[in-house]
Amino acid sequence: MKVLVTGGAGYIGSVVCAQLIAAGHDVVVYDDLSKGHKRAVSPKAELILGNLEDRAGLRDIFQKYKFDAVMHFAASIEAGESMKSPGRYFRNNTAAAIALLEQLSEHGVSRFVFSSTAALYGNPERSPIVETDALQPTNVYGESKLLVERMLPWFHRIHGLSYASLRYFNAAGATAELGEMHSPETHLIPILLQVAAGRRESLTVFGTDYETPDGTCVRDYVHVSDLASAHLLALNALATEGQPKQLIYNLGNGRGFSVRQVIEIARKVTACTIASVDAARRPGDPAILVASSEKIRRDLGWNPQYSELDVMVSSAWNWFQHHPQGYED
Ligand code: UFG
Repeated sequence: MKVLVTGGAGYIGSVVCAQLIAAGHDVVVYDDLSKGHKRAVSPKAELILGNLEDRAGLRDIFQKYKFDAVMHFAASIEAGESMKSPGRYFRNNTAAAIALLEQLSEHGVSRFVFSSTAALYGNPERSPIVETDALQPTNVYGESKLLVERMLPWFHRIHGLSYASLRYFNAAGATAELGEMHSPETHLIPILLQVAAGRRESLTVFGTDYETPDGTCVRDYVHVSDLASAHLLALNALATEGQPKQLIYNLGNGRGFSVRQVIEIARKVTACTIASVDAARRPGDPAILVASSEKIRRDLGWNPQYSELDVMVSSAWNWFQHHPQGYED
């Protein structure tokens, strides 16, 4: 298939592109490199620099290529930041998705794979969370993605769009070539590795008074390669006759780790003392997010290969050590 990947120069998008190419698909990456990295894009993919706000540019691209599918990763992704800049999140995540979906409809592209998030659930009523549980985000980031999920059934009904909405829990880990590098870095595991490498003094633990076993937030970590393989399964399902065309799946491992437990694992993996300082809660953080991914396992045969957190952190540490300056672009 010829696949347009928005945000294909980013952390998860780049790993998905690598798997798409390995599976024989043709990949066009659309990315403004505001967060992504040129060097994360495979030389076998075509990189087009652009922003989803550029409607004319998008239209030209859809006219030039006959895409069989679009995978949409480009987004603002930080729950904490979204509570300071709500407008940016609604613009970059919700409005941009509308612009993109309009191009799909206009050009008859009928398959869409959407990067959704566990942040849709907010503080869940039960754990592990299943896809039919209540959607009540506690941060703007989650709300901005939920609004897109709410549009998708209407595009299905009116334009025949087939879609898969993949609700990621916490992406972690790296492949040998592709890893996690944000600027500024706000994510737990990369920050721990920066402290281990002596690049930062300490990790700030955001909140120690949550209703969790040790008072810190609990998350379900999933290896980026396993996330990527779910995208290929979803794409194939959308392209297979007779399969359902409105797919919603959680992607996690079904096991929660507290911030303190992640710190301990990072200390073991890196064999470094990692200093941490307790601090107040970060606004918008739900206490516990753990996925049930039974549905995608059952329906599409998803079978994560790297479900142990120490394996994820080791892979991230390995990438970090080989790319001390990140992608340097
Ligand atoms: N944390 C700290 N200190 C830090 C950074 C993080 O204590 O310096 C804590 C956070 O408060 C949270 C946990 O570590 O409890 C994980 O935080 P991250 O920032 O790494 O990730 P989030 O859970 O906030 O969000 C991530 C992605 C989202 C995605 C979500 C799904 O950023 O895009 O996982 O659960 F939607």
